[in-house]
Amino acid sequence: MAAHETIVVLDFGAQTTQLIARRVRGLRVHSQVLPGETRVARVRDLAPKGLILSGGPASTYMARAPRFDPRLLELGVPVLGICYGMQLLAQHLGGSVEAATVREFGPATMGHEETALFAGLAAQETVWMNHGDAVRALPPGFTVIGRTEGCVHAAIQDPARQLYGLQFHPEVAHTPRGEQVLANFVLRLCGCRGDWTPENLAADLQQDIRERVGTERVLAAVSGGVDSTVLAVLLHRSLPGQVETLFVDSGLLRSGEADEVRQRYERLGIALRVVDAGDAFLETLAGVEDPEEKRRRIGHTFVRAFEAAVRELPPLQFLAQGTLYPDVIESGVPGGHSTTIKTHHNVGGLPADMPFTLLEPLRDLFKDEVRRLGAELGIAAGILGRHPFPGPGLAVRILGPVTRERLEILRQCDAIFLHALQESGWYERTWQAFAVLLPVQSVGVMGDGRTYENVVALRAVDSLDGMTADWTRLPAELLAQVAGAITNQVRGVNRVVYDISSKPPSTIEWE
Ligand code: XMP
Repeated sequence: MAAHETIVVLDFGAQTTQLIARRVRGLRVHSQVLPGETRVARVRDLAPKGLILSGGPASTYMARAPRFDPRLLELGVPVLGICYGMQLLAQHLGGSVEAATVREFGPATMGHEETALFAGLAAQETVWMNHGDAVRALPPGFTVIGRTEGCVHAAIQDPARQLYGLQFHPEVAHTPRGEQVLANFVLRLCGCRGDWTPENLAADLQQDIRERVGTERVLAAVSGGVDSTVLAVLLHRSLPGQVETLFVDSGLLRSGEADEVRQRYERLGIALRVVDAGDAFLETLAGVEDPEEKRRRIGHTFVRAFEAAVRELPPLQFLAQGTLYPDVIESGVPGGHSTTIKTHHNVGGLPADMPFTLLEPLRDLFKDEVRRLGAELGIAAGILGRHPFPGPGLAVRILGPVTRERLEILRQCDAIFLHALQESGWYERTWQAFAVLLPVQSVGVMGDGRTYENVVALRAVDSLDGMTADWTRLPAELLAQVAGAITNQVRGVNRVVYDISSKPPSTIEWE
C-alpha cells in the first residue's frame, strides 16, 4: 500500500467523511479512512503524506468525545482538521471550544488571508457551515486566516507546525471552491504528486481481496447492474477459480432483463448460476404494503435463495456484494451516527444468522468511481452506462401489494418509457429513469365508455451519486409521446403523471 502517496482521513463520524476521501481520490491521490481514535503505529505504517481529521457529531468538551492519538502530531506531516476535527486540534493544543453563540447551518461568505491553503480563491468565497460549537480561544502559535459573519475562526493555521483548521466543509458541493482548498492542502502543502490512477485502484482492490480471502471461496451475488458486474469481474481477476457467481432471478426485474443478464455473463466469460426464485418472492410479498417490510422480506428471501443454492456447492466462506458508499450511508450503518433513510436490501436487510462473512470491496466508492474502475477492468461502456436499479427491483416501484398482474403492467409501462428515452438520446443524459405504479385508480374515458383504472408515474432524475437529485427536464413532446403510448398499449392504465420532485425532500425511488 505504501507504494503510493497516501492521505489518511481520520473519521470522527461525519456523514461526509467518505466524501473527503473521495475528493482526495479525485485529486489522484490515494486516501484511506481510519477510525478517529486509531493509534499512531497503525497510521505510521501507511507512511501518510498528510492527515485530515473529519467532522463529527460530538462536542470536544464532552467527556466521551472521540479524540485522536496525540502522537500523530509528531509524525511531521501536515494536518488538516475539518469542523469537529479543527475543534479537536485546537482544544488539544491549548485553545478552547464551546457552544457557538451563533450556530451556523448552511452557506456563509468567507473573507480570508492570502495563504497557501487558500491559493487561487477569490477574496470572498461561499463556504458551507454545519456547526453548533466553535473554537473560542486559539491555541498558541495559530492565526486566523478566514472569517464569516457568524464565525471569527472559520479557518486557522500554524504553518510552522503544518497545522490547519477549517470550520467549514470543503468536501461538499455547496462549498463551490472546496476542491481547490483540498487540492492546496493535498498537492501543495502535503506535496503529493497526484499520480494515483484507476489502474492503481483496481490493483489495490485486487490485493486487498486476495489478502482478505486467502485460499477461501467466495460466493458473488450479482444482479446484472453496474456495481455487481464490476464486482464480479474484479473478483474473478483477483481470485481465479475461487469464485461462484450466482444470480437470483427474483421475478422483480424489468422486461427481458433476466435473459440479458445471462447473455452478458456469457460474453464476459464468467459462469453464472441462475436461481429462479420468482414464486418465492411473490409469495413472501403477498399482501405486504409497508415499504420497509417489503425490503426486509426481499432481503431475507434473497439470502434464503442463496443458501439453498449454496447447499449444492462446495463450502463457501464469503458472500461478496456490490454495495457502494451511498447505500451504506443511507442505510445508517457506519458508526451508527447517521439515520436510516431506507434499508437498502444488500446492506441492512440481511438476517443476523447469515452463514457467510460479508465481502464488500466497493463499499467506499461512489458510482462514478465504480464506472471508471469498470472501464479500467475492460467492461463495455454499454454496461457501465446502465441506469442504477434497486436491489428490491420493481417491488419498490409498485406502491401497495405486489402481484403478478401489477408487475406485468409496470413492466410494460417501464419498457415503453425506457425505449423512448433510448431512441431520443435521453437515456444517457439522465442518471435514472423509470415508471412507478401507484395504488390509486382514476376515472378516464376511452371510446364512449367510462374507465376506472391505474395511474402510472414517470420519474427521471439527474444526479451525481444518487445522494441528491433533481428531476430531469424532459421535453414535453417526449413525455406526451410516452404517455400516449402507455395509455394506448397497456391495458389497465388510463392516466400518466410526471414526478417533479427533487431529492431531498423526496427520494429517487418512491419506496
Ligand atoms: P433513493 O430512493 O434512496 O435511491 O433516493 C438512491 C439510489 O439508490 C438506489 N436504491 C437502491 N439500490 N438497493 C440498491 O442496490 C436498494 O434497496 C435501493 N434502494 C434505492 C436507487 O435506485 C437510486 O439510484
